[in-house]
Amino acid sequence: MDGNGRWAKARGLDRTYGHAEGVESVRACMEFAVEKGIEYLSVYAFSEENWNRPAYEVNALMELMMKAMIKETETFLKNHVRFLVLGNRARLSESINRTIDDLERSTSQDYGTTLILFVSYSGKWDILQAMKKAAAELSREDFQKMELSDFDRYLVTAGIPDPDLLIRTSGEIRISNYLLWQTAYTEFYFTDVLWPDFRKEEFAKALEAYAQRDRRYGKVK
Ligand code: IPE
Ligand code: MG
Repeated sequence: MDGNGRWAKARGLDRTYGHAEGVESVRACMEFAVEKGIEYLSVYAFSEENWNRPAYEVNALMELMMKAMIKETETFLKNHVRFLVLGNRARLSESINRTIDDLERSTSQDYGTTLILFVSYSGKWDILQAMKKAAAELSREDFQKMELSDFDRYLVTAGIPDPDLLIRTSGEIRISNYLLWQTAYTEFYFTDVLWPDFRKEEFAKALEAYAQRDRRYGKVK
């Protein structure tokens, strides 16, 4: 989700207004995913690198995420959406961790779509924590015998399928340390539309583009 700041700046508003409008896009996209029967919708809300933004903006983002989680609980339940947060939870405050736990617990049953919020996440961090976890759990021999599919189990996305489609908004054409391991065969879609303007119509366009892709996974047809 990129372009919140530029969206606000273009209107002479503080960056935080862009983030607030971005929450509306998350809701719209979540409802669209439910409508389309998409099983997993992941949004990159806050990266490990985003901690380096000014404290004022970091606090505003944390506050906004917390408020949205409380306010949208009913929306999740109504839409049969399971909510998950993945990332370096140790860096989050106690109150936000408690709010996440509550929402994860109350949405853990009777769901069709899973909404994953990546918070304090980075792809390199994920690979490193997976390696450490595997090294701590496995004997030296089992560690050496590890297969690619075994390694998947130590990533924070364990049990969740790799993404079919990755969308990046706002005209930036890079991965910015998102799901590095998991996007090995993901289709990428880039659009100049800023995140606060990315609603159902734009999501539908991305899905249409995805439907035209020919996924060969390195094989010949
Ligand atoms: C994306 O919008 C939201 C977060 C990364 C939290 P930005 O805040 O990156 O907006 P721009 O890139 O400055 O426009
Ligand atoms: Mg940005």
